[in-house]
Amino acid sequence: MSDTDPTLILAPMRGITTMHYRRVFVRHFQGLDLEMAPFISTVSAEKINPKLLKDILPENNSGLPLIPQLIGNKADDFVQMSIALHDLGYEEVNWNMGCPHKPIRKKRRGSGLLPYPDTVDAFLDQVCDRSPCKISVKVRLGVSNKLELMKLIPILNKYPLSEIVVHPRTAEQMYKGTVDLDAFEEAFHLLTRPVCYNGDINNISFFKSLKTRFPKINRFMLGRGLLANPFLCEEIKADSAHLRRCEFTPSKVCRKITRIIHFHEELLSAYESVLYGDQPVLGKMKEFWTYQTIHLSNGHKMFKKLKKTQRLSTYKEIVAEFLADATWRADYLSSKASDAPLTTMP
Ligand SMILES: Cc1cc2nc3c(=O)[nH]c(=O)nc-3n(C[C@H](O)[C@H](O)[C@H](O)COP(=O)(O)O)c2cc1C
Repeated sequence: MSDTDPTLILAPMRGITTMHYRRVFVRHFQGLDLEMAPFISTVSAEKINPKLLKDILPENNSGLPLIPQLIGNKADDFVQMSIALHDLGYEEVNWNMGCPHKPIRKKRRGSGLLPYPDTVDAFLDQVCDRSPCKISVKVRLGVSNKLELMKLIPILNKYPLSEIVVHPRTAEQMYKGTVDLDAFEEAFHLLTRPVCYNGDINNISFFKSLKTRFPKINRFMLGRGLLANPFLCEEIKADSAHLRRCEFTPSKVCRKITRIIHFHEELLSAYESVLYGDQPVLGKMKEFWTYQTIHLSNGHKMFKKLKKTQRLSTYKEIVAEFLADATWRADYLSSKASDAPLTTMP
């Protein structure tokens, strides 16, 4: 990878970008550089065990560099978990200050911390000093308005954070409405630590418009857009290689639908081998198709039918029938990814 290649990071998506998903994804698609794992809640030292850390145990993972993420507001617990992660070989841990869900917010965790600069200050003061891992943070603009992040920035600037991932929506927006690029720009200029952009990168043209507007940003995190179009990182890398007149050729040249079929088969069998009974497997696969049907010509119809299925055998028949006829709609307005229903967050 050249210095000017963008660094593309898989967004953490709890319940979806599991270790199984991440492992299978990188076997089938190229272009991703890094993954951030979905959050793990901090617990006290005596409760830290391999089951809690299962999703990020190195032997369960894809081989791409992985950044574990923690959510919590108790500095001691965070430090103890950071020690456990360091023992597993991790050099960096991300602190989730972005989760918008009300039950989490109410406990002053996730985005619920954004309106409380003093609490964040006291927390970072403790953990930056004592954590053996570098600390990065993932933030939103605020709970209800962007001023919350702006007021927090002088605090963030005090600490040697390795990165600030900014998703420019408020928590009250959840995942709806548009990202506020003006607010992102303002935050970017005020932040003194490295910044990564996250939000609504659903197609190459939006990616390019970000690169044009923010030429100094070279780290991008992709979530729903990449789940809907798993070729997106390959396309972005191929495009930036083309711009520099050098080579990035995705190694697999078979039809996109064929690649989706193989990806789906392997993911399904991964879940079948670890989950017991039809319902848990169906739950995971229905979530998968929430996003994965967006670019399929018959995806909407397929998803409607899949949602009602209660048996894995029927599920397999429906998927086989629809995929046999599906075509890939590359230019299908992938703003749709931002409208995909969200089913899993706690
Ligand atoms: C179902 C779901 C689960 C998510 N889980 C997490 C999580 O565990 N940690 C986190 O920081 N963000 C989480 N997010 C937020 C995403 O990482 C990302 O910030 C958000 O989807 C916006 O990026 P996108 O527009 O590229 O999807 C989640 C989002 C969704 C939709």
